[in-house]
Amino acid sequence: MALSATDTNALSGAKKKDAEKAGAILFRDKGCAYCHGVGGTGGKKGPDLSGLPKDKAWPPEKITNQILNGGQKMPPFRESVTDDEVAQLIAYLRAKHRPAPPTGTGSPTPPPGA
Ligand code: HEC
Repeated sequence: MALSATDTNALSGAKKKDAEKAGAILFRDKGCAYCHGVGGTGGKKGPDLSGLPKDKAWPPEKITNQILNGGQKMPPFRESVTDDEVAQLIAYLRAKHRPAPPTGTGSPTPPPGA
């Protein structure tokens, strides 16, 4: 059975950890951290995302939609992330213990257009 890119629940073990780590890097490099803070704990421009793993109001499909289409004040990332990257971002956001991105404590990269 082939895994769909967005089916992060089907990922397990090492693969899941890899996806979480990749997501941590994307979160920083795609500009998410610019608004949501390093580690997604909230910033001046975006809400705290640390409650997401337990938030039933935010299933993966809805998070996917938010990332691809944006929201009221959040820009859409449809043009700048691939399906795999969305899956990795979600794996990261939904991780019980979010890994820190491997390098740097430097300031987060702003998103395109910010
Ligand atoms: C320009 C600032 C900005 C950037 C960049 C940004 N966000 Fe957001 N995000 C927001 C704001 C503001 C909200 C609150 C709802 C809205 O206005 O859309 C939000 C909401 C969310 C939500 C829904 C959670 C909730 O409680 O509302 C998720 C999930 C999310 N962002 C993930 C991401 C991810 C992943 C990225 C990077 C690909 C990202 N955001 C980049 C500003 C941003």
